[in-house]
Amino acid sequence: MQQATDSPEPGTSIMSSEAYIQYRGIPLPRMAHPKESLDYAEKFRVEDSDVFVVTYPKSGTIWMQEILPLVLNGGDATPVKTIPNWDRVPWLEETRLAVVVDEMKSPRGLVTHFPYFLMPRSFHASKAKVIYVMRNPKDVIVSSYYFHKMAEFLDKPGTFDEFMEKFLEGKVLFGKWTEHVKGWMGTDLGDRIMYITYEEMVQDLPAALRRISGFLGRNLSEEVIQKIAEQCSFTSMKKNTMSNFSMVPKVYMNSDTSPFLRKGVVGDWKKHFSPEQLARFTSVIRKELEGENLTLPWSLD
Ligand code: A3P
Repeated sequence: MQQATDSPEPGTSIMSSEAYIQYRGIPLPRMAHPKESLDYAEKFRVEDSDVFVVTYPKSGTIWMQEILPLVLNGGDATPVKTIPNWDRVPWLEETRLAVVVDEMKSPRGLVTHFPYFLMPRSFHASKAKVIYVMRNPKDVIVSSYYFHKMAEFLDKPGTFDEFMEKFLEGKVLFGKWTEHVKGWMGTDLGDRIMYITYEEMVQDLPAALRRISGFLGRNLSEEVIQKIAEQCSFTSMKKNTMSNFSMVPKVYMNSDTSPFLRKGVVGDWKKHFSPEQLARFTSVIRKELEGENLTLPWSLD
C-alpha cells in the first residue's frame, strides 16, 4: 500500500481525522487513495466489455472478486488461486489498477466503492455492465465496526455506540450508506445494471451464480455452477491466501484483532444492537430514504 500525498488537491480536503481525505464530499481512507489513483480513476478508459462490481464497503466485495473471474472464465479457478484479489479484480479507485491494467484480459472485471456520481465519464459513454451488491445496513455496520478495529489505516471505531453515530453521519469510508444506495438504485443504466443482495448469495449461492452468469451472457452448466459455489464458499475463501488478505502485513490489517473474512453470516447485527440502538438506526435510515421510490429487499426492523 502506498502513502498518500501530503497536500490536498482541488476537490480534496483533509478531514479532521488524519486517516481520511474528503474527495468530492466523500471521506476516503487517505492511505489507500493517493491523488494519482483518484486522477487515474477519473480518466480511466472504460471498455464496453468491462464488468464493474459496485458495493458500499462490507457488502460482499471480495466475495464478488472471487465469483466474477470464475463466472467469466467458465469456472477456471487459476486466477483465484494465483492472483491476489486486489490485482485479479482491481479497485477502480486504488493504485493497483494502473499497475495491472495492461495485463488484464477482456472482459475485464473491476470493483469500486465509488458512489454513482464519481464514476468516470467514459463509464457513462460505454456499455460496461454493473453488478450492484447490497447488504442489510445493520449487518454492514457490524462488519464495518470490526473492519475499523483491524484496519490500521482507519480511525479506531470507539464503542459500537460511538461508531453508529459516525456511520449514520457518513463519517466512515465512502460516506453514507443511504446516499450510496440511493445513487446506484436511481441510475438510468437500464439493463446494464443488475442488483443482487448479500443475503441472496448466502441463502442460495448456486441460484445467485445462475443469475449472475445469465446477466453476463455465460451459459454455465450445473456442474460448473456447483464447482464455482464450492470455490466461493466462506470456508474455501478463508483458506485461500489469494483472497483472505493474509499477505497484507499486520501493520495495515491486523487479523489477530479480527479476520477480514470474519463470520460471513446474515443477522449478526442481532448480537450487537441494543433495542435503543435499533430504534435510532432504523429511524435515521428510514428518514433518509423517505420519499425515494426504493424497495429494499429486507425489513429495517
Ligand atoms: P462479516 O464481517 O460480516 O463476516 P467486503 O468484501 O465488501 O469488505 O465485505 C466483507 C464481508 O463479506 C465480511 O462480512 C466477510 O466475512 C463477508 N464475506 C466475504 N466472503 C464471503 C463468503 N464467501 N461468504 C459469506 N460472506 C463472505
